[in-house]
Amino acid sequence: METTRADVAIIGAGGAGLRAAIALAQADPKLKIALVSKVYPMRSHTCAAEGGAAGVIKADDSLEHHFDDTVGGGDWLSDQDAVDYFIGEAPKELIQLERWGCPWSREANGSVAVRPFGGMKKQRTWFAADKSGFHILHTLFQTSLQFPSIERFDEFYATELLREDGRVAGFTAIEMRSGQMRRFDARAVIICGGGAGRIFPFTTNGAIKTGDGMALAYRAGVPLKDMEFVQYHPTGLPSTGTLLTEACRGEGGVLVNRHGRRFLQDYGMGPETPLGRPVLKTMELGPRDRVSQAFWQEQQKGNMIPTQWGDAMLLDMRHLGEAKINERLPLVRDMSISYMGVDPVTDPVPVRPVVHYMMGGIHTDLKAATPLPGLFAAGECACVSINGANRLGSNSLTELLVFGRRAALSAMEYLQSGARAASESALATGADAARGRLRELLQRTGGKETVAGLRREMMHTMEANAGIYRTHEGLAEACVKLADLRRRYRAIELHDKTNVYNTDLLQALELGSMLDCAEAVAQCALARKESRGAHQRLDFAARDDRNFLRHSLAVFDPGASPRIEYLDVVITKSQPGVRDYSGGHE
Ligand code: FUM
Repeated sequence: METTRADVAIIGAGGAGLRAAIALAQADPKLKIALVSKVYPMRSHTCAAEGGAAGVIKADDSLEHHFDDTVGGGDWLSDQDAVDYFIGEAPKELIQLERWGCPWSREANGSVAVRPFGGMKKQRTWFAADKSGFHILHTLFQTSLQFPSIERFDEFYATELLREDGRVAGFTAIEMRSGQMRRFDARAVIICGGGAGRIFPFTTNGAIKTGDGMALAYRAGVPLKDMEFVQYHPTGLPSTGTLLTEACRGEGGVLVNRHGRRFLQDYGMGPETPLGRPVLKTMELGPRDRVSQAFWQEQQKGNMIPTQWGDAMLLDMRHLGEAKINERLPLVRDMSISYMGVDPVTDPVPVRPVVHYMMGGIHTDLKAATPLPGLFAAGECACVSINGANRLGSNSLTELLVFGRRAALSAMEYLQSGARAASESALATGADAARGRLRELLQRTGGKETVAGLRREMMHTMEANAGIYRTHEGLAEACVKLADLRRRYRAIELHDKTNVYNTDLLQALELGSMLDCAEAVAQCALARKESRGAHQRLDFAARDDRNFLRHSLAVFDPGASPRIEYLDVVITKSQPGVRDYSGGHE
């Protein structure tokens, strides 16, 4: 088997993976870095982020405000030591991007512009119009090109982690162009594989977000943490699920129901403010969990507007005027016209909540280290945890920078502590076994199940039972169904048994990842008998700090459903309190 030897191998070349690679290359030019991704880096999902990245920069803001917004927004499930590290590093990372050429939007006086974002009581979201992710990813990618020590392996799909003596030793990956398996030997591995929003049918997430990085770590014995916390973004286009950035509301757009009422004032997010007033109150800038829950409540009351794609609310931006929409929200205008046939300059745009982000992921400590020595993780695939039960919009782009770099530094420390390369026999045995499993899947005949069929059933189960509001009955049904789907997955048969760009094979592997992640979501949600942040139980409506001020940990079992364990939340200075968004903010 062809083998690549690296000091550190990174799986995933989106924002977190690129940031980690750059940090490693800068720290030691002699390090051999392998950057392995199932897509070309600029096709990573970071590219789709729109509204911006949070970091304290203005004189009226402070690290304390950013800390309080993040911890309160996360319903006190965030680890406060990690949040402290995050908010302190955030401005440094955003300034670093500026120096690498990121074209942040500007105030009239030339300083970096910031915009208000949901749940943030001060303006601290840096942005590049409404294409922030594109510009951040481009900046990181072009910066990475100057380092010869970063060797890229685009369109390689990682299949299994290799281990020896209880530590990571590398991984196997399929080169998509040839279908051949390659071995990556590495003393340290950083997973930056993104989220798993595709376990749901209606999502802002690109087709690549299938939880592969999470599943790699999970199957190697690293728990998935807080998987029950799935974020709905309140404003997706009903036709496609495409994101209409929170910046629409940050810039002053309002949400109205079928009676023309700004309904959020009825859900503890008042008072209403006059249209076009520069001082924003909470209202449309409430946190995502609360705003999405208000949509659901309004639907129960029959206050939504029927469309050919289902019920929606209206996002009204007309009062912003054409010039501002063109300057600040050009992509929003393009997408509304292309996908809905609605020009926000002249008409309100129908929107509805859509699955957007996983707060949970690979269990790491605040140094981005997993419990498996030599394995690190950063970005959406990881749960460090700064986001707790509900992430605030624009914290995630900054998170992938801060913890991408942190993972790199931790990997360096690990190497310097004397981490040895694994033995040839352990690596060869592990890789041969992985190749054997792949061959068996490719050559299997007589299988009764199809990838598309199982994927459809999984998505339907998640949508029906693990959405914005949940119940014991629904979650229990989802757990039974997902266990059955995992069993049936072992009987899938591929239509395409060839080697070159075998998308049938890749989709089968992605489905395996998604089923593991989906089961972790449902099992953790069933076990969490309280309502907190994005996890709302109709049968346990209150937050229960006595029993559930704890992270959940799903521990993988190949032959059964995961075991659920718990871990205390790190609380340093902010005791759990009431999340109050009623008073408004400036
Ligand atoms: O609405 C948005 O632009 C999304 C931002 C985020 O999820 O951080």
